[in-house]
Amino acid sequence: MPIAKPANQVASTITSQHLSDRVLEIQDAFEVSPTKLKQIVAHFVEELKKGLSAKGGNIPMIPVWVMDYPNGTETGDYLAIDLGGTNLRVVLVHLLGGQKFETEQEKYHLPKGMRTTRNRDELFEFIADCLEKFFYKLHPNGIEKGALLPLGFTFSYPASQTRIDTGVLQRWTKGFDIPNVEGEDVVPLLMDKINEKKLPIKVVALINDTAGALVASRYTDPTTEMGLIFGTGVNGAYYDRVGNIEKLKGKLLPDITDDSPMLINCEYGSFDNEHESLPRTKYDILIDEQSPRPGQQAFEKMTAGYYLGELIRLILVELYEEKQVFQKYSKDSEQIKLLYTPYLLDTSFLAEIEGDQDLENFPEVVRLFQEFLKIEPTLDERRLSRALSEIIGNRSARLSVCGIGAACTKMNIKKCHCAADGSVFHKYPKFPERAADSLADIFGWKEENIHPRNYPIQIVPSQDGSGVGAAVIAALAHARQAKGLSLGLAEAYKKA
Ligand code: BGC
Repeated sequence: MPIAKPANQVASTITSQHLSDRVLEIQDAFEVSPTKLKQIVAHFVEELKKGLSAKGGNIPMIPVWVMDYPNGTETGDYLAIDLGGTNLRVVLVHLLGGQKFETEQEKYHLPKGMRTTRNRDELFEFIADCLEKFFYKLHPNGIEKGALLPLGFTFSYPASQTRIDTGVLQRWTKGFDIPNVEGEDVVPLLMDKINEKKLPIKVVALINDTAGALVASRYTDPTTEMGLIFGTGVNGAYYDRVGNIEKLKGKLLPDITDDSPMLINCEYGSFDNEHESLPRTKYDILIDEQSPRPGQQAFEKMTAGYYLGELIRLILVELYEEKQVFQKYSKDSEQIKLLYTPYLLDTSFLAEIEGDQDLENFPEVVRLFQEFLKIEPTLDERRLSRALSEIIGNRSARLSVCGIGAACTKMNIKKCHCAADGSVFHKYPKFPERAADSLADIFGWKEENIHPRNYPIQIVPSQDGSGVGAAVIAALAHARQAKGLSLGLAEAYKKA
């Protein structure tokens, strides 16, 4: 069967022969064939296993000390916060049992420059300020003396956890770059600020967004086996068996047995940092070289929302330099200066270009170019941009699901729901269809003539992971603690 050429339809309407040839070249460079997908998944499985070994590998495979499956009976009131790229969300979750919950929430915009502030205190003070506002909005007269509201802290960066209520940041991702946080436990950094404000709040669990997505969805859907984020960053979580986690051998208290499930935050954005199997283009190499952390997050840099806008920008810059596009703007014009601004275009630029329904005139594309770059694109430039958006979006979807392919292969899961969240999954047109189609390529469902509706592994929208998921994880931790069971490495209990 010939490999689908997603951009052909639009690319073939480009009138300039040279430009249309260039699009096809770019398309070839971004193509990931079914055979290549299978090779990547095979390598990915090995890397997941390596991450669990005593020696470790590129993929951190972090045990997050959630050792129970939620079943929807969990109850209680929990606070949850989620530090995202643009917002801090604060949620009060009432777990009602019977798979039911209610939430009250507020979003606070992250001040400009916060992602790269030179003073880490600013970040943790900002979080504590938001918590304070939210707390007094809910409880203008405070709460009962001595009571403490349990808080689940969704911190979606790779953080090593010796216990469920700790998290040492391994490295910032997704454009965050704040000094003196890498290598530190972020929980005391936040608790110090909470305590300065005398708020009756205590972090009881540090949670990755993927773990939250999995647990929140499993609260209502017991067939959920993975939590996934296709957003600013890319990552997945699943339950493994403690016995399979070689790096924990001899480090646990006797109450955690080999048969116990253990939720693993894979942090597979760092898959293939050694560049063995991912088909990198020159644009991917540029993105990596110009990033604050070259050599890290190789998989994420090719798939995640933070980088997709930058990919199209780099291609457009190259085509400008080849004198193929935007020729009415000189190099020192405002328009071209904007075009040369790194990370000026975000994923919404690409997603909305793909959302344009009018393939004759592309009015949305015109609007977007004016809004972001002040450029009036010619018809060929609009077609080009549409073709590029399809090429980049398609590759992102195809590669992104290799993480699912790998975890399901490793765990021998043949049928399940994978709960997905994130801006790319929700806002990028066709992402879910493309992702499903690529899973079918990986597992050979097309040869079996299975209808997409019946694909055995389905990617479904997740429940609110950073709210409900964080609350359920906090509730599970609470229940374990009440039974006197451990939630971390033996050494973490000796110290405590
Ligand atoms: C982070 C992960 C996170 C993912 C999705 C990555 O950059 O390292 O912890 O789950 O983004 O938000």
